[in-house]
Amino acid sequence: MDLTLTVGVIAAFLVIFLFRYLSNRQAAPAPVRQPAVVKEFHIEEVTLEEPKKDESCACKEGNTTDEKTSCCRSNDNDDCKKDQIMNARVLYGSQTGTAKEWAHHLAANLRSEGYKATVSDLATFEPDELSQLSLVFFVISTYTDGKAPDTCIGFYEWLEDMSHDFRVPKDFYSKLKYSIFGIGDSIYGDNYCTTAKEMDKMLQRMSAQRVAPIGFGDSGTSVEIKDGYKPWFKGVSAGLNGSQKQDKKQTKTKPKKKVELGRISEEPDELSDDEEVKENITDVEDMGKFVKPVPQKKKKVEIQEEEEEEDEEEDDDDEELELVEGQAPKEMLTESLRKSLTKQGYKLLGSHSGVKMCRWTKAMMRGRGGCYKHTFYGITSSQCMEMTPSLACANKCVFCWRHHKNPVGKEWRWVVDEPDMLVDAAMKNHYGMIKQFRGVPGVTKESFEEASTIRHCALSLVGEPIIYPYINRFVQLLHEKNISSFMVTNAQFPDKIETLDPVTQLYVSIDAGTKESLKKVDRPIFGDFWERFLGSIEALKRKGQRTVFRLTLINGWNTEEISNYAQLVELGAPTLIEIKGVTYCGTSKASTLTMKNVPYHQEVLHFSQALCDSTPFMKENYEIACEHEHSCCVLLANKRFKVDGVWHTWIDYPKFHELAASGKDFTAEDYMAPTPYWAVVGSEEKGFDPEQVRHKRTKPYAGQGC
Ligand SMILES: Cc1cc2nc3c(=O)[nH]c(=O)nc-3n(C[C@H](O)[C@H](O)[C@H](O)COP(=O)(O)O)c2cc1C
Ligand code: SF4
Repeated sequence: MDLTLTVGVIAAFLVIFLFRYLSNRQAAPAPVRQPAVVKEFHIEEVTLEEPKKDESCACKEGNTTDEKTSCCRSNDNDDCKKDQIMNARVLYGSQTGTAKEWAHHLAANLRSEGYKATVSDLATFEPDELSQLSLVFFVISTYTDGKAPDTCIGFYEWLEDMSHDFRVPKDFYSKLKYSIFGIGDSIYGDNYCTTAKEMDKMLQRMSAQRVAPIGFGDSGTSVEIKDGYKPWFKGVSAGLNGSQKQDKKQTKTKPKKKVELGRISEEPDELSDDEEVKENITDVEDMGKFVKPVPQKKKKVEIQEEEEEEDEEEDDDDEELELVEGQAPKEMLTESLRKSLTKQGYKLLGSHSGVKMCRWTKAMMRGRGGCYKHTFYGITSSQCMEMTPSLACANKCVFCWRHHKNPVGKEWRWVVDEPDMLVDAAMKNHYGMIKQFRGVPGVTKESFEEASTIRHCALSLVGEPIIYPYINRFVQLLHEKNISSFMVTNAQFPDKIETLDPVTQLYVSIDAGTKESLKKVDRPIFGDFWERFLGSIEALKRKGQRTVFRLTLINGWNTEEISNYAQLVELGAPTLIEIKGVTYCGTSKASTLTMKNVPYHQEVLHFSQALCDSTPFMKENYEIACEHEHSCCVLLANKRFKVDGVWHTWIDYPKFHELAASGKDFTAEDYMAPTPYWAVVGSEEKGFDPEQVRHKRTKPYAGQGC
């Protein structure tokens, strides 16, 4: 019995010892692999032999191969080790390219510090390779609910599993040096850069060594990613110089490798303080042009003092920054946002507004037809100015044509431009664009002259116009110039709807019928987005003028919720319901929409009829009034607007301006006008004005906002 017990205990010791020894070898490709042979090892203290240098080793003098061999990976060969230290891998996780861009920027910076830096996408990176690297930088962004970008979910989950797997030794990455630069948007509050933060925790759990603390790049409004990158890289640079010193020091002291009960321990001989100072000074000189040499005679205490002074200087800078922030708000558009929006064709006005010419304005100038607002409400498309007084909004809708290079905000926290200046600048820019059409084929003298007077303003370009602090004055200025106002809000600011003065037509975007799908489609930044959405609908009901629900149908996303939409209609009782098929905005990594998600006009008509028939309330109050086949758009109107069998969805604009100027209360019915036959659903023209000439585009049109 005793003998069996003794043999059993020894065998157990051997198994534990071997497992722990193998676990400590970072190069081991499979961390949980069990040892097959145990008899070569002894429990007592032994000195391991230095690994023999591989003949074909990449770092052998004169050898041109780049391939790392077992010798290099062992981390025990000085030459190889030096080579490894100077090899940095930058791994990025990115959906729309921002993190990728910064990963390349980082690699360039590392190269200029003397490192061999290569960049890889985590989407294709083989996770097991991580254990073979010695210096790694992660540049990674964050998405909805703090999740990793779609492209690198696989790697993220793998690392997470590893870090929680009890079979993986806690020091599995103890030889891995790393730092993380997270990219996100601080508007997401607690979810700001969570992917990066979580990955940092995971690597810490497995004992990876930070070269520098995690850094953050805020891609939000009014800030620049570089503001976070610069101090982070400064830390990386300092950390690398420090770790080079440390590595060299360890190499020079040639630690004896000992095995104690299966654990490798490195015990460098202790250095005295003086020796340590000397060591530091020599290393600084070694670094040549990258680090300022410190005179030999300087003692450690002086160096420390210098460091402290430097820290104090940095603190002063921070204070100054805070003071400036406290004194004056920043501008909404940063330089990079300006560049990106200008590239997309926006004429930027002041610090937070934009104007862009709508393709229908051009089309009608050339006699090629008007937009659906011409069909449904009688605007003259060639006299319409499309603009927004706030390029920032509170959503990141999947169908947004800006592909999310846009500012977002939960409230106004930027410099505010004067409304008079904005209206003037918008009109001036719009007229400037109109002028360019003089002499273009199809543009007649009459149509050019007509277009030279703005009569309508579509406050629906992009962004959220309602959050502009002077929105009421802004709209009043438009009305004073006999310009009607069509304002679209994304249903996240009920209090602003409440305090809004009468506009010609007020829209609320109803992008989904349920909380779950609204979250998927609009990707709102507010946590209480659903309550805000419902609150906006209720606020709309209390408005006296024309109100509209704008539904954007996306096949496979939000077309199955007819009864939910009906409930929302009952809650808001809008005058009109516009139902439009989503416009395909082209390929974008920010949105997974494809042409399959775009409904045909017949599908939109079918949905519209089903909505009208869905509940007794809908049947009693709404009917399909108009269609504009070209835009894949259908209009449902409250039956109050069918007077003696004739639809009155058009607007009497002079009457509206008269009512708005009167300061008295008025209702939607007070400025309605009859709809022409060709605009009514079922007409042969399908909503196309017979006075215009049809023109078939060969290329699809990409671009849609709210
Ligand atoms: C739909 C969506 C959701 C987002 N969610 C978050 C988030 O939860 N936390 C965060 O910090 N940033 C969030 N962001 C901001 C992105 O991280 C930011 O735009 C980043 O620059 C994207 O980097 P990429 O281009 O490398 O993918 C989100 C962006 C979008 C479009
Ligand atoms: S579509 Fe409108 S609401 Fe949605 S993100 Fe774009 S601007 Fe904002």
